[in-house]
Amino acid sequence: AIRRASSSSTTSHIVRRSYASGSHPERKVAVLGAAGGIGQPLALLMKLNPLVSSLSLYDIAGTLGVAADVSHINTRSEVKGYTGEDQLGQALEGCDLVIIPAGVPRKPGMTRDDLFNINAGIVKGLAAAIAKYCPNALVNMISNPVNSTVPIAAEVFKKAETYDEKKLFGVTTLDVVRAKTFYAGKAGVHVADVNVPVVGGHAGVTILPLFSQATPAGSNLSDEEIKALTKRTQDGGTEVVEAKAGKGSATLSMAYAGAVFADACLKGLNGVPNIVECSYVQSTITDLPFFASKVRLGKNGVEEVLGLGNLSDFEKEGLENLKAELKSSIEKGIKFANS
Ligand code: NAD
Ligand code: LMR
Repeated sequence: AIRRASSSSTTSHIVRRSYASGSHPERKVAVLGAAGGIGQPLALLMKLNPLVSSLSLYDIAGTLGVAADVSHINTRSEVKGYTGEDQLGQALEGCDLVIIPAGVPRKPGMTRDDLFNINAGIVKGLAAAIAKYCPNALVNMISNPVNSTVPIAAEVFKKAETYDEKKLFGVTTLDVVRAKTFYAGKAGVHVADVNVPVVGGHAGVTILPLFSQATPAGSNLSDEEIKALTKRTQDGGTEVVEAKAGKGSATLSMAYAGAVFADACLKGLNGVPNIVECSYVQSTITDLPFFASKVRLGKNGVEEVLGLGNLSDFEKEGLENLKAELKSSIEKGIKFANS
């Protein structure tokens, strides 16, 4: 319905059609939690992505309005809205990529782990449906606590005998987005040129930005400045939660980050070479079974989990300090999934 040519000019009609069917393969993408604070702007950004041919918007309520609204945008993808559990199968069938921003957000004074009791169950249910209806899809997990929700999804997939560790990703792109922004401000370099890996996990001290590897190098930052940048990146989510004062957590910057990561996954699937993003994945680069680091994306999802590179003494200390918390969050998720 969305592919109708609206122009009266034959030339622009042809251009539009060739753009519409284009050289990109058909790709169905679902957003689960699409009516939420992240879901809505993420649906918008995915509708703007020419790599998407079919956009499936699912939520327990309120999806049809969002889908009708987004569907009027004159870009490639066909948009469909699905509401309620009985429509989840249809929403997922044939998906290449499923993005999950479903679940409750933090209020001031809460940790991400305080969301576990509600969000763990939501993620478990959605993962079971993915195993049933689109077991080959890449999964981008946004729901918190990511350090636990990714292991939960892995366990559900293992039980269903559909687990492929190359296809499950915890989305930590917002940490990278923040690290880039904060670094550019301090180092006096153009933000668009900046690269900073962020490793570990996605909560407090488990978020470990590697500013020693930041490019471009910029002016020499002092140890104190690096410490402050690290702390601000680790507390970035809390900064937004406090500013929103009870009205939720990051939604717009998260939708941007989610769209960046989803785009990278789609490019990987389409065979574009050298697509590297940080993500929280099954990993052997430390002694923890899940860990965020740079990942090369390819036609089957994770092509290669890249190592940490050289760390400064401060970063080595940060790495040791995050392990206990990350380990216990992983174990909590595994235990819940098997309970
Ligand atoms: P929100 O409350 O605005 O939206 C969540 C949506 O999920 C709602 O529309 C709700 O109806 C829906 N939902 C609830 N149960 C569902 C189910 N079973 N199936 C489908 N949808 C369901 O919250 P938000 O601000 O969009 O945040 C969503 C989640 O994302 C939170 O857990 C938050 O902590 C997390 N988050 C993660 C990051 C990250 O960097 N990974 C960043 C920001 C927020
Ligand atoms: C974030 O980093 O913004 C998210 O994880 C949401 C939160 O609770 O901080």
